[in-house]
Amino acid sequence: MSQASIVEIQDLEVKFYTYAGVVEALDGVNLFVREGEILGLVGETGSGKSVTSLSIMRLVPPPGIIEGGRIILRESGKQRDTLTMNENSIRQMRGKDIAMIFQEPRAYLNPVYSVENQISEVMLVHRKVELLENSIASVQKKLIDGRKTVLEKQKAGLDKENPKGEKEKAELAKRREAVEKKLGGLTTKPPSDNEMASYRRLVKAELYWPAERARQFQKKKAKLEKLKAELEKRKSKLEGKKGTGEQMAKINKQKHAVMAWYGYYDRQYAELMRVEPSQFNMDRGSRIKGTIRTSAMRFPARFNRKRQFKAEVQKEVVKVLRSVEIPDPERVARMYPHELSGGMAQRVIIAMALACNPRLLIADEPTTNLDVTVQAQILNLVKTLKKNLGSAILYITHDLGVVAQSCDRVAVMYAGNVVENADVFETFSNPLHPYTRALLDSIPRPGEPFKSIPGIVPSLINPLKGCRFHDRCSYATEQCLTGKPKFIEVKPDHYVACHLYGGS
Ligand SMILES: Nc1ncnc2c1ncn2[C@@H]1O[C@H](COP(=O)(O)OP(=O)(O)OP(=O)(O)O)[C@@H](O)[C@H]1O
Ligand code: SF4
Ligand SMILES: [Mg+2]
Repeated sequence: MSQASIVEIQDLEVKFYTYAGVVEALDGVNLFVREGEILGLVGETGSGKSVTSLSIMRLVPPPGIIEGGRIILRESGKQRDTLTMNENSIRQMRGKDIAMIFQEPRAYLNPVYSVENQISEVMLVHRKVELLENSIASVQKKLIDGRKTVLEKQKAGLDKENPKGEKEKAELAKRREAVEKKLGGLTTKPPSDNEMASYRRLVKAELYWPAERARQFQKKKAKLEKLKAELEKRKSKLEGKKGTGEQMAKINKQKHAVMAWYGYYDRQYAELMRVEPSQFNMDRGSRIKGTIRTSAMRFPARFNRKRQFKAEVQKEVVKVLRSVEIPDPERVARMYPHELSGGMAQRVIIAMALACNPRLLIADEPTTNLDVTVQAQILNLVKTLKKNLGSAILYITHDLGVVAQSCDRVAVMYAGNVVENADVFETFSNPLHPYTRALLDSIPRPGEPFKSIPGIVPSLINPLKGCRFHDRCSYATEQCLTGKPKFIEVKPDHYVACHLYGGS
C-alpha cells in the first residue's frame, strides 16, 4: 500500500466472544500510517477505532481475539509482523516504537506513585543502556572537573613564581609542562565493559530482581509440594504393615526436612511480597523505590552509583516533562496524580508516552474530557511534538474540526471497516464514500438545519452481509447486499471501499 509507512495494517479481523454472541468488531481493516504524518481516524461510536489502535499495541482485552490479518511494523528497510512476535519482543516494542495516549488520563496513572516514578519506569525498561552511559559519563565528568580545578590552581601558582637562576627556571618550565600535560590528558573515556556490566547488574536488579526471586521461590515451593506428596504416598503404602517402623521413621524425617525448607521459602516469599507487593501486580513506578532497597546490600559502591543513576533518571524525567510544556517540572515530578488538574494529568500521560521517543504515537481521543482551551493547548502540543520529534501520530477523534485543523490524512471507519483514506484536503473537498459524505454533511453549521445520518449504527453481532453500510446508504444496489466492497486506490493516494468505485 505504501512503502514509506511505519505501520501498515492488512485485513485485520478482531472478534469479541461475549455471552450475547460474537461481536465482529473489525472486519478486515486496512490502514497505514506514514512517517512523520498525523493520521486522523474518525467514525461513529463503536466503529472500531479503539480496537484498531489496541490491536496495533497487541492490547486487545479479553474476550477479544485477533483472528486474522497482519500488522507490519517497518524500520530502516526491515519489517516485522507484530501479530507473530513473542510477548518479550512486543513488550520491547511498546513504549519504544509505538506509544499510546489514552482517553482517560487518570485511569492510567497509578494514584499511589509520584509522576517521576511512573515516567521513569518506562525509561528504565527501554533506555537503560543510554541512561547507564550518561550516568557513567556524569561521574567521569565530576571526577575530571575536580581534578581540573586542582591542576588549574597548581598552574596559577606556578605562573606566579619568579625564579632567578637558570637552573630554577628550567625546573619551573619542567613542572609547568608536567601540569599542562596532565590537564591535556583529562578527557572522558567511553565506559569500559566492566563498568557497564556492573551498572547493568544494578539496573537489572532494580527492574527484575524481586520478581525473579519470587518466581524462584514459587518454583522451589512447587517442587517441595511434589516431594511431600510423593512421601505421603510412600507412607500410606507402608501404613499397617509389620516391620516397616524403620522405613516409616526415615520417611517422616525426610518429610520434616521438606516441610522445613517449604516453610523457609514460604517466609522468604512472604517477606518479598511485603517489601514490594506492587512488584507482583504490575503497579507502576514501584520498581525503582522498592528495588533500590533490595539491591542496597549488593552494591557497596565506590562512588554512589545508585544515587548517581537515580539523579540521571530524574534529570531525564524533568526534561520530558518540560518538553510537554508543564510549568515547574521539578515540582510536578514529585507530585501524585490526585494533585494534578485534568490538563496536567493528560500532559503527564503524553510525557510518559514520549519518554522513549516513539516512532508512532497513538492518541485515542486525548482531549475528550478537557475544556476547550485545554483541548486547544493539547492539540497544539501534539502538533509541536510531531514537528520536533518527527514521530508519526495516529489521532483518533470524533471531532472533524480537529481533523481539518491538525491532520495530514484522514481514515474514516464504519462498523469495523476503514471505508475511505485520503489526504485531508482531498477528503474534505472531494469525499467519495457515501458514509464520508454523510459524516461531513452532519457537521453542524450556523444557520442551517441540523442533519444526521439516517438509521443507527448497526450491531456487530450478526452484522449485515455485503457492505455494512447498505441499510443506511441511498446509493445501495443489489450488489451491495451480498458482496463486501474491496478497499482499493481509486485515485492516486485516495483509497475507498465502495461498489460505486469499482470495489467489486
Ligand atoms: N471488551 C469488549 N467486549 C465486547 N465487545 C467489545 C469490547 N470492546 C469493544 N467491543 C466492541 O467492539 C466494537 C468497536 O469498539 P471500539 O471501542 O473500537 O469503538 P470506537 O470506535 O472506539 O468507539 P468510541 O468512539 O465510542 O470510542 C464495538 O462494537 C464494541 O461493542
Ligand atoms: S458499497 Fe454500496 S452500500 Fe456500501 S457505501 Fe457503496 S454504494 Fe453504499
Ligand atoms: Mg474508542
